[in-house]
Amino acid sequence: MKAFLNGKFIEKKEKAIALEDRGFTFGDGLFEVLRTKNSHIFFFEDHLLRMKYSAEFLGIPFPYSFDYIKEMALELISLNKVNDGELYIELTRGTDLNREHRYPSEDMQPTFFMLAFPLRQIDPENWKHGATVFPYPDLRHRLCEHKTINLLPNVLAKNFAYAHGGYEALMYREDHMGKYVTEGGSSNYFIVKNGRVITPEIDNILPGITRAKVIKILKSHGIEVIERRVYLEEFLNADEVFLVSTVSKVMPVRKIADREFTAPGEITMTAMKLYGRLMEEEK
Ligand code: PDD
Repeated sequence: MKAFLNGKFIEKKEKAIALEDRGFTFGDGLFEVLRTKNSHIFFFEDHLLRMKYSAEFLGIPFPYSFDYIKEMALELISLNKVNDGELYIELTRGTDLNREHRYPSEDMQPTFFMLAFPLRQIDPENWKHGATVFPYPDLRHRLCEHKTINLLPNVLAKNFAYAHGGYEALMYREDHMGKYVTEGGSSNYFIVKNGRVITPEIDNILPGITRAKVIKILKSHGIEVIERRVYLEEFLNADEVFLVSTVSKVMPVRKIADREFTAPGEITMTAMKLYGRLMEEEK
């Protein structure tokens, strides 16, 4: 299996990244996960724009043009003979032999690599009859609008869900009114109540590409979508719950711990159908 690293195709098993890469020592970097099908990469521009915007915010030089990245990504997909797959892109601030928290403002060569591999196996029952998710405290920092590689809280949250037989975590923070839902370990959430769709606003959560697409297609289908703070209590009293991400697409939620929902509900099914159609049209 090949990988793309800093302008070259290498064997994946080659030890090619310095131990002092700031990605390892400080989690000083960004990543993206994209869906691929044969020689198509879904929503490529949206993902790359998100990464580039965050790189600018963090002061990490963005090393290549989108056209070049796309060309290399397609080459990588073809070299690895991936049909239905995922493209993983990581960008770190690069190697820093001194291991100082502050970063040198000049002469930093960022590390940029890509992996292309077959789509992870997800039990299709999750789409058919809904996934089980578990509430878990959101232990993250204030940089959640950027897709950084600091994923320890997400790892703990998702692992908690898996360990209890679930698919995803439902992360929450607290304010004076109680627990409110932020997002999943690697997905965004929606609820349906009385025919209206409600989703947590972008307030220190990842602006998911799938989330944005789903909001747009539901609205253009005449369904009201509200973005605001949504409390865990509202999730538990919702008519329908669903989660979205690049990998999960639109997935109904059947259970939040012991609380059970109709899954997929009517609006969830509409969202699944519309998103499926959007992906078909993109190809
Ligand atoms: N995760 N929230 C978080 C914290 C995420 O990591 C992701 C994506 C999402 C959904 O974003 P998008 O629709 O752009 O994929 C929301 C990827 C899929 C992952 O880590 O595998």
